[in-house]
Formats: sequence, C-alpha cells, structure tokens
Amino acid sequence: KTTSMKIAVVGTGYVGLVTGTCLAETGNQVICVDINADKVKMMQNGKLPIYEPGLDILFHRNIAQERLHFTTDLGSAIAEAQIIFLALPTPPGGDGSADLSYVLGAAKDIGKLITDYKVIVTKSTVPVGTADKVRAAMDSQTTVEFDVVSNPEFLREGVAVEDFMKPDRVVIGTQSERARKLMGELYGPYVRQGNPIIFMDERSSELTKYAANSFLATKITFMNEVANLCELVGADVDMVRKGIGSDDRIGRRFLFPGVGYGGSCFPKDVQALVKSADENKYDFKILNSVIEVNESQKTVLSGKVKKYFNGDVKGKKFALWGLAFKPETDDIREAPALYIIDELVAAGATITAFDPEGMNNVRNLIGNKISYAADPYSALHDADALLIVTEWSLFRTPDFDQVAKLLKNKVIFDGRNLYDLQKMIDCGFYYNSIGRKIVS
Ligand code: UDX
Repeated sequence: KTTSMKIAVVGTGYVGLVTGTCLAETGNQVICVDINADKVKMMQNGKLPIYEPGLDILFHRNIAQERLHFTTDLGSAIAEAQIIFLALPTPPGGDGSADLSYVLGAAKDIGKLITDYKVIVTKSTVPVGTADKVRAAMDSQTTVEFDVVSNPEFLREGVAVEDFMKPDRVVIGTQSERARKLMGELYGPYVRQGNPIIFMDERSSELTKYAANSFLATKITFMNEVANLCELVGADVDMVRKGIGSDDRIGRRFLFPGVGYGGSCFPKDVQALVKSADENKYDFKILNSVIEVNESQKTVLSGKVKKYFNGDVKGKKFALWGLAFKPETDDIREAPALYIIDELVAAGATITAFDPEGMNNVRNLIGNKISYAADPYSALHDADALLIVTEWSLFRTPDFDQVAKLLKNKVIFDGRNLYDLQKMIDCGFYYNSIGRKIVS
C-alpha cells in the first residue's frame, strides 16, 4: 500500500526546507508555510533560499511534480494536513534558554484553526517539556482531538539530504498509539535499509537530541585537549587518533582536533543542556568544561601565529582559507574563523580571505574588516603566512609551488591538519598544525 500523506511544514528555515523537500521526495503532498512573503514568493518561483548540496535537485523535481508547495497562509496549509511539522526558530533567549515564543505562538494559531484530528510534530531542537507546552497552548484554543509528537532532527549541514533520506535512526517521542502509527508510516520509506525508528516518550526524545549533540561536542573537545597535550609531549595526534579510533567502542568518527566546534547546533545545544541541568539543580560538570575548553580552542591558531611573530602581528598580512564553520556550507554561525579574524585584526594585522561559499555571509556581517579574494591563490599575494581554518576539499591538494611562490614567507598555520608533514618538509614550508610536530 502506498503511504502518501498530506503534510504541512511550518517554518522554511534550514530544517523546515530540508524536511519538507525530503518528505515530498517519497510521494507525500507537502505544503511549507512561512510568514516571510518575499521568501515564499522566491520559493514559489523555484529559487532555494539556502545552499545545501543535493537539495536543489529534489526541490525542483518536487515542485515540478506538484508535491511541494509554498504559502504564507497557515489556515489553508494545515486544512488538509494529517501531520503538521513545526520547524520554527528557537533562538537562545537572554538567559541562554531556548526562546519558545515562535513555537508556542504557532501552536496557538494551529489550535484555533484545526477542525479535525492532527499530529503536531516539534522538529526544532527544543528543551525537555516543550511537547507538554505545545499541547497546553493548543488545548487553550481547541477541543478538537490532536497529538503532539517530538521528532528531533539529526541533520548535518552539507549532508542534510543524505541524512534525511537515509537516517542512522529516527527518534519519535509520543505516547499516543494513533500518532505512533502515522509517524511510523511516514518514516517507513526512509529506513528500508534496516535502521531503526526508535519510539519513546516525548521527554526522552527531547533529551536525546541534546544528549547526542553534547556527546559529540565532548568527543571533539576531548580530542582537542589530547592534541594540545600531544604538542607538549612531542606526540602526533593523528597517530593517537588512529590508535584509539580503531577501538569500536570509541569509533573513528568525530575525533578530528581543530579550531574548536562551531555552527548553529553544538554551541547552542551544549549551552541549553547545561542550562536545563541548572534549572533542575544539577551541575553538569563535564559540559561546563567542554564549553570552557572550546572557547580557548578557538584562539589556539591565532595564538600560534602571534607566538611565531613574537607577539607582534601589527602590519602583518595574512591569507585565510576557510570562513564557513565547516565545508560544504555557507553557514558562518559561531564559525571559528570569525574569532581568529577578531583576534588578529585587533592586534593590527590585515587579512585576505577565501571561502567557496561563506564569503557573502561574512561580508554582510563584518564588511571590509577583511579583504576577500576571488580564488584561493589570489588570497596569498605577499602574505606573511597562510592560515587554514575550514577543510574544504579544494584546499587539500593545492599547487604547493604556486603557494610558495605567492606567499611572502613560506609559512602555513593549519587548523585542520590537511597536509602530510613530510610533504611540507619536502616543499620547504614552516608548517604548524594542531597536535603535531612543527616542521620547517
Ligand atoms: C551537528 C550534528 O552532527 C547533527 O547531527 C545535528 O543535527 C546538528 O549539529 P553540524 O552542526 O551541521 O551538525 O556539523 P558537524 O559536521 O557535526 O560539525 C560540528 C562542528 O564540529 C564543526 O565546527 C566541525 O568543524 C567540528 N568538528 C567535527 C571537529 O572539530 N572535529 C570533528 O572530528 C568533527
């Protein structure tokens, strides 16, 4: 039996758009709602407001096949929908806890509008207890039957489509048999390979999302500290990483030291979990340390640069490769590059940066605080050193002769350990990376 369903997605940010598009891809009828009329018009005209690899193909296909629609009208969007996803922003409020006003506002509006049974799904990352609040907000407006389900997303930017289409797992938090059945049917096509749909209560589901991201942030942070120690004792973190990662219990992934984690999720989610622990009078010690270590890790690369120039980078000119917080995205939220720029510019240096996707966003944020290059090589002209902050594939195998020729000094500070140490010696570079020997 085909399980084509009618779906509404409220909020067409990153999560909403990926969710809506990928749900249409398996044959469901999807309407995405947003209050931003310009954005809705843009999408109706077939333009994607975000950059995400592979999303444009699905987006255009499903619009062409009339399975994916956009509107500003919540009422018409949800009229026929069986399942309504809430993918609204939950920005950190003044005290660090997530601001639920968008989510609860939409819940009230939906409560006023519904005339038959609906499943309301919270897709945004929300604190434990939010499903109950959504339920209460709707209850205050309606006597129509509905269920509220927590269904956290685990999408990684850059591979979000793949993550949605073939998730490692789907977590569904609900205690309603009816909602459980509908959600199971909806996600069935995405887990055909045998990955699990894990059903649980709403609170466990809400906490799962925070625990997953906080665990991964801790894993990275642990490796950053191991890397810092490697430098002091003369060990090579790349070797240590391989040595521990081949133990299945540790695993090979997320063990790469660098310039500290950034992005829209890890920093926010670790903060929110600490906050939520605080509210329950629990001191989540390890996560407080993770936050502290990550803050200082963001300054490790600029610290190395300053040290190399004996504390004086005034008038120095640096080439910077990578602005986005990670490759394959234009997202610069909490990007370590921004901290490095701040530190070096404040110390009197000038910076010319190149990033394949992130330059527009940085220009909008900090304007001419730095210069922008049209390609990686033109950033290098006459620079005192090259700094690598994001591991775009483009930076992995540059023409080192060209790099050496263009730089004023043959000096590279690599925050992502892209290059082989022997290769750097052969090419005659001074090369300072993370948790490995400095070669020159
Ligand atoms: C993350 C989670 O992976 C995803 O499941 C969740 O839904 C949202 O948050 P994302 O923020 O897109 O996804 O990026 P991710 O690839 O996880 O990287 C996060 C940060 O950690 C980046 O700054 C990255 O550079 C850093 N990182 C990651 C490391 O420094 N080392 C690693 O080994 C892995």
